[in-house]
Amino acid sequence: MKILITGANGMLAKSVKNKLFGNELICTDVEDLDITNLEDVRSFKNKINPNYIINCAAYTAVDKAEEQKDLAEKVNAIGPLNLAIVSKECNAKFIHISTDYVFNGNLDTNKVYLETDLTDPVTVYGFTKDLGEKNVINNCDNYYILRTAWLYGDGNNFVRTMLKFGKEKEEVSVVSDQHGSPTYAEDLADIIKQIIEKQIPYGLYHTTNTGFTTWYDFTKKIYELEKIDCKVNPVSSEEFVRPAKRPKNSKLSKDKILSQGIYIPSWEDGLKRYLEVERR
Ligand SMILES: NC(=O)c1ccc[n+]([C@@H]2O[C@H](COP(=O)([O-])OP(=O)(O)OC[C@H]3O[C@@H](n4cnc5c(N)ncnc54)[C@H](OP(=O)(O)O)[C@@H]3O)[C@@H](O)[C@H]2O)c1
Repeated sequence: MKILITGANGMLAKSVKNKLFGNELICTDVEDLDITNLEDVRSFKNKINPNYIINCAAYTAVDKAEEQKDLAEKVNAIGPLNLAIVSKECNAKFIHISTDYVFNGNLDTNKVYLETDLTDPVTVYGFTKDLGEKNVINNCDNYYILRTAWLYGDGNNFVRTMLKFGKEKEEVSVVSDQHGSPTYAEDLADIIKQIIEKQIPYGLYHTTNTGFTTWYDFTKKIYELEKIDCKVNPVSSEEFVRPAKRPKNSKLSKDKILSQGIYIPSWEDGLKRYLEVERR
């Protein structure tokens, strides 16, 4: 299987490359292939003629995006548009990664978001990712859009930050009213591998680790597992204002993907395995 992976130096892409080892992988970052340039994307596609395109490239600086709308839109909306167009041209299957930020996050936290729920982004990042999804849906047929959330892996992420703080500080304050599923990049990469192997029906799927928590309880779990003696103080979103509003409810239902026989570990299980790797 010939697979093009874009954004190949990014956090998720590193795990995808590991999981798909054994296939013919063509891995590109922005220096090799800028996904915002249709002619470059097309001529690259003509050269390699892939069976799959996996788009791990994105503009992911959620706060900075509020001031860099044009760049965020180019990467998160035009990039996937270009990749959707060329995957249709060469009959490749297109796997595109999206986010919980396509929702406004105001759903009651006792409820979960379904793939059929209407999107309503409230941040520039969310708006551009939502546009990216629509561009994929409207420009190719053989697509998988995988919405994920709270991703951590081999790159800067929340777990690494909290481990650092836990060793340096006596107490930390963490938001306790935002709910979601921490997702280990290795587990999302494994979901991608299973999708390719099982060839499940095309479409939009929510793909995070299973189970839900808050950033506060997630932090407490990290410290418990690492035996870090640092007090965790719960704070509200209102006390911890950021340039881009964070969704209070990022709970994505996994029923659709699970019903296709895809195995997904719990977020606690993913965290335990990640910490083992980080300890080495
Ligand atoms: N991280 C999260 O918590 C999270 C949550 C939900 C969804 N997601 C989604 O998951 C996916 C993977 O995220 P990630 O955290 O792995 O992202 P990441 O680590 O920020 O990696 C993105 C990669 O894309 C590259 N890139 C940027 N502009 C490009 C362009 N024009 N052409 C080609 N490559 C370009 C970046 O290169 P440079 O570094 O050189 O710019 C970087 O290597 C994204 O679609 C993201 O929206 C992430």
